[in-house]
Amino acid sequence: MDNRPIGIFDSGVGGLTVASRVMSQLPNEKIVYFGDTARVPYGSKSKETVTKFAKQDVRFLLSKNVKAIIIACNTVSSNSLEELKKMFAIPIFGVVRPGAKEAAKITKNSKIGVIATSATVRSDAYKKEILKIKPNAEVFSKACPLFVPLAEEGWADEEITRLTAEKYISELLEKGIDTMVMGCTHYPLLKNCIKKVVGDKIVLVDPAYETSLVAKQYLTKNDMLRDSQKEPKHEFYVSDTTETFDKICYEALHKKYETKEINIESF
Ligand code: DGL
Repeated sequence: MDNRPIGIFDSGVGGLTVASRVMSQLPNEKIVYFGDTARVPYGSKSKETVTKFAKQDVRFLLSKNVKAIIIACNTVSSNSLEELKKMFAIPIFGVVRPGAKEAAKITKNSKIGVIATSATVRSDAYKKEILKIKPNAEVFSKACPLFVPLAEEGWADEEITRLTAEKYISELLEKGIDTMVMGCTHYPLLKNCIKKVVGDKIVLVDPAYETSLVAKQYLTKNDMLRDSQKEPKHEFYVSDTTETFDKICYEALHKKYETKEINIESF
């Protein structure tokens, strides 16, 4: 038994799509969430900068006495996971491997699309993970940098979002993919528009669900689950003003949470 919270972080609102899954899979667990809204987007930054930010994010969560950390960010998972694991003596889970595993399981024609940030695409992390499981797979990746500001703005169902999705995704459709990974945790917030573009024949993979299962399995196996019947009081932190964050947080989690602002540079 371990009654400490689980830490979850992302560059902004994207990780809420993971937090939501963790809350349903592990309803008894307390979550401390950090969204680095002052420095979003991470996806256009270098590996070094992303790793530097991620270390500060982890240090902040450790200051909240978390027992494990879920990196609810593909950009950090694909660029910094190994370094974070080496540096911090705490269980740390990324989203890329669970997402890759799921895509490899689902595809029938072995043609998989990955939409992600520029830094995730540059790392080739999805391709490497998918090929470990399915060496004959063909993986086609496409960076969609405008999706993150659209999601942060809360433009989930706007025409401009659908047009942007069409422009980015059409080249993947031409490759004949039957499965597409939403390789950035912000993208499921735009799922309606993405779905309109890919249609019904392509299966969309959101790594959040599989990631929550991996964390659940680990905590269960290692006797680290919270043992209290009291409803957990989740905490939300951001590094800059919280207005849109609060709005999207409410939409994603269907509950009003108080968000506190912290100075991430001091960690
Ligand atoms: N949501 C993050 C990801 O999954 C980061 C997006 C960004 O800040 O560019 O990659």
